[in-house]
Amino acid sequence: MAAQKRSENGFPDEQAPDLEEANPEFEILLNYLKHHRGCDLTCYKRSSLMRRFNHRMQSIGIESYPHYLEYLQYCPEEYRTLLDDVLINVTSFFRDRHTWDYLAATIIPQIITRDPANLPIRLWSAGCAGGQEIYSLLILFAEAMGIEACLQRVQAFATDADETAIAQARQATYSPLEIVGLPEELRDKYFRQTQQGYIFNSELRQTVIFSQHDLIQDPPISRIDLLACRNVLIYFNSKTQDAILSRFHFALKSTGFLFLGQAEPLISRRRIFQPIDSSQRVYTKGESLELEDYISLIPPSSDRPTERSFVMENNFWKTAFETSYSARLAVDIKGQLLFANQRARTLFDLRIEDWKRPFQELKIGQLIDSHIFNQSLYGDRDILVLNSIEWKTDEEIQYFNIEISRVLALKNQVLGVNLTFIEINDYQQLSKQLSATRTELASISQALKKSKNELKKANKKLESAYQELEILHQDIYLSHPQSQPSDRA
Ligand SMILES: C[S@@+](CC[C@H](N)C(=O)[O-])C[C@H]1O[C@@H](n2cnc3c(N)ncnc32)[C@H](O)[C@@H]1O
Repeated sequence: MAAQKRSENGFPDEQAPDLEEANPEFEILLNYLKHHRGCDLTCYKRSSLMRRFNHRMQSIGIESYPHYLEYLQYCPEEYRTLLDDVLINVTSFFRDRHTWDYLAATIIPQIITRDPANLPIRLWSAGCAGGQEIYSLLILFAEAMGIEACLQRVQAFATDADETAIAQARQATYSPLEIVGLPEELRDKYFRQTQQGYIFNSELRQTVIFSQHDLIQDPPISRIDLLACRNVLIYFNSKTQDAILSRFHFALKSTGFLFLGQAEPLISRRRIFQPIDSSQRVYTKGESLELEDYISLIPPSSDRPTERSFVMENNFWKTAFETSYSARLAVDIKGQLLFANQRARTLFDLRIEDWKRPFQELKIGQLIDSHIFNQSLYGDRDILVLNSIEWKTDEEIQYFNIEISRVLALKNQVLGVNLTFIEINDYQQLSKQLSATRTELASISQALKKSKNELKKANKKLESAYQELEILHQDIYLSHPQSQPSDRA
């Protein structure tokens, strides 16, 4: 793809058109992430988004959006790495120093003095990245009112969509490179140098509430005196910028201030914010919100796919595997046991030590001829079925048909095999009984045949005995003609 123009800060071009739906394949990819991963990037400017996607794809050797879509389907965790690339966390202490000087000289004194000293001062850094922005604000307030007063009055919120950034911000530990630009006296006053790096003043740090928060979807924090959202809006298309600005309007007290990034002129549909000094990007509230702005503040409906629904979907498949009536095993491409569901664990007495062991070394693995097993992993048959396989334990004999199906991924790469053990004990018992009855019948008919022959022989013997008797009888009659022949039986 043609290289896009990029500003020196690494931002998307300030005036770049939104380029909505510039590339149908890219839009399909974004829709997939939105509907199947609960990760909605459709509101971001396409120019910078495509650049970040291409960067990620290049690093894993994928050249087209459809292939990357396949990769995302196969690697559910990939979208997290992608997000790390998309949500650019570039930041620094007192970024664009002159605007912070302006804030310190003009805005912060107003905030501190206009309300009674017992009222809290609420700050929000939205899109806080590694925390440098919120700590810069705290330093300025502590400098203006003293650390003690700052601890008592200031309530700070720091949010970001990126949970890794939030974790880093919470740590508040920075390398020497990350604190370059911080005036030495502030560094010595607010940071403690350790082997891990420079750690921000722990008391002040505890005034900050960090949370993961998506500016597009999550409801805004309210009653804010100073809202810093710097170098974030620039990534969104103008419609989304408008919606976020409505939320900021809602978030701010009537006397609150909005502090944007240097590269972000506030171009809004309506004048809901008024510049105090547009060269410094500091604004106060202007016109009131309208009904449609309030509607845009309502959190999205619960049937919208979210990361949670993705996790639920994942859990569904895991549970389906785990609770399947048939015993199931998954074996990876190295031939090692990867998973065994509950039925398989019980039937084949598999234990935790068996995980990652070569499948063919297990007792259950020995049921399958190693040639056939290797065929299923490395040959060209996607599915193999072995019929009437006998599994003997001390207590019983079981019979299975074993289905070995290959698990294929991107570009038909084989990941391993799934083995499903279909129990055929009832059928096997019936067919055994049948064959036993057949054998019994055959031997009975043999015996019958034998008895028949013997009967035949006995009949013949009887007949010849009778004939002999008759001859004898005739002989006696001829020798004594006066005697009468007896009745024949
Ligand atoms: C370039 S950094 C700006 C950091 C800091 N505000 C500054 O100006 O130095 C942009 C930050 O916006 C965050 N971000 C991007 N999309 C977001 C969203 N939808 N909701 C909240 N934060 C978001 C990113 O994770 C990233 O940390």
